[in-house]
Amino acid sequence: MAPDRLSGKMKLAVLISGSGSNLQAILDASAKTDFPAQIDVVISNVPDAFGLTRAKQAGIPTISIDHKEFPDRHSFENALQSALSTYEVDLICLAGFMRILTSEFIAQWPDKIINTHPALLPKFGGPGMYGNHVHKAVLAAGETQSGPTIHYVIPEVDKGEIIAQSRVEVKENDTAETLAKRVLEQEHILYPEAIKLIAEKRGFKTA
Ligand code: GRF
Repeated sequence: MAPDRLSGKMKLAVLISGSGSNLQAILDASAKTDFPAQIDVVISNVPDAFGLTRAKQAGIPTISIDHKEFPDRHSFENALQSALSTYEVDLICLAGFMRILTSEFIAQWPDKIINTHPALLPKFGGPGMYGNHVHKAVLAAGETQSGPTIHYVIPEVDKGEIIAQSRVEVKENDTAETLAKRVLEQEHILYPEAIKLIAEKRGFKTA
């Protein structure tokens, strides 16, 4: 795998399952000529995910691989690997991708899969900590701060090395929904920044 020969940019696959607002943030960042990465493909395990529409509108190739059509996790991941292998990407960005990946799949992409999590890891992570469950747990614990974490993906869910975090204040009258909204706004800023950090750290040239 090598950075795109023509643009010199790091090549990304973005994996989604839903709305794709983080995908949109990466799309917007990558539309800027000085952003050191480009999205080569967007893959969804949910065929009607709105993120696929966002990608198509931006002229990015999309692939839908419905996990429900596969008898088990491994056959789904074989299809995913096969789709990814045609694109020669440098980095896989999970952006609201709601499938846990097996250690066998992750081993095929060492240090090349990153994820966004809507809380300050290592707190409030792990299986079951997704969506509003995370924000409810943050509120129940009486935390005064929360915020997104971008981290490498390893087989232990949400335990990979942290790349970047940003903080939001937890307000006294916050509900899981209001807190989620503020954390998501920060995610949209942080995810492209983390990608930039990786691209620059690894010596990818900017266009
Ligand atoms: C984000 O908050 C992400 O951390 C979580 O799901 C949300 C995805 O939102 N895993 P979107 O699909 O990017 O809009």
